[in-house]
Amino acid sequence: SLATTFLDLPLANPLMNASGVWCSVASQLEALLESESGAMVTKSCTLDPRNGNPEPRYRVLDGNKPWGSINSMGLPNEGFPYYLRYTERHDYETKPLFISISGLTLDDNLAMVDSLKDAVTPAILEINLSCPNVPGKAQLGYDFDAMDTLLAEVTSGYGQRQLGVKLPPYFDIAHFDEAAAILNRYPSVAFVTCINSIGNALVIDINTESVIIKPKDGFGGLGGDYVLPTALANVNAFYRRCPEKAVIGCGGVKSGHEAFLHILAGATLVQMGTALYEEGPGIFTRVKAELLEIMKQKGYENLADFHGKLKTL
Ligand code: DHB
Repeated sequence: SLATTFLDLPLANPLMNASGVWCSVASQLEALLESESGAMVTKSCTLDPRNGNPEPRYRVLDGNKPWGSINSMGLPNEGFPYYLRYTERHDYETKPLFISISGLTLDDNLAMVDSLKDAVTPAILEINLSCPNVPGKAQLGYDFDAMDTLLAEVTSGYGQRQLGVKLPPYFDIAHFDEAAAILNRYPSVAFVTCINSIGNALVIDINTESVIIKPKDGFGGLGGDYVLPTALANVNAFYRRCPEKAVIGCGGVKSGHEAFLHILAGATLVQMGTALYEEGPGIFTRVKAELLEIMKQKGYENLADFHGKLKTL
């Protein structure tokens, strides 16, 4: 069985979308609700609606291996009230819903958290500390003092209710240590989602001798095969360092194989971005079947049989 629990909520399986993919408008959210995902999350929102960056702003890299995507969407979204209204009519009996917020300022984040606290919604709050694509806005997850300040204010503003943070990838052991130490000072930060895209990559087409997305001279966030080992490192680094928190794995998952690796590294839930963008919500049916088949071949009956049980040499 793929059944699991997250913050004491039962889920039919650990698979869900990555924020940003198939979750910007109600029709997409309804398709996720009807899919076989175990949970779902809304597009990261700002206080006010945004059009985002000029197009083309997402490209799949499918001509060759490795496979992946680059994006610089720039937070196009319908604005916080739209997603708040969706949380108030979501069918929570069918699956849990996360709401992702990505305020442009600390005050905007606090305003959204304040409305959510008073709203009658069981949606789970994921605060995005890692959007790499808004020109002039640094990723909070890479500014440890700013991250600490935000967590202090947001956790207090949310009345110590449970919430989580979406982190950027880290690449240095000292950064894993420092980020985890900060997060561990906030017990109401009940989960961390690792990772957001590898920010500000540059994909170049040799034929056209050009970048392939328009915003930011072609710089954008990388997803897909390229990011899987970085994602697994971040999942496992935070799983080891934050024993009181759950870890949600995100990055490079396109089949049961990568989902299994994320869970083995310590992920309780597993998100899909690029692969969901390309394949659509039917992907959950396929990946569920593949994960169950891998478990059967290995003689595992439940996720707990291998969750976090990564071996070292
Ligand atoms: C966008 C991209 C991200 O990686 C993110 O976390 C939030 C928003 C975007 O460009 O829209």
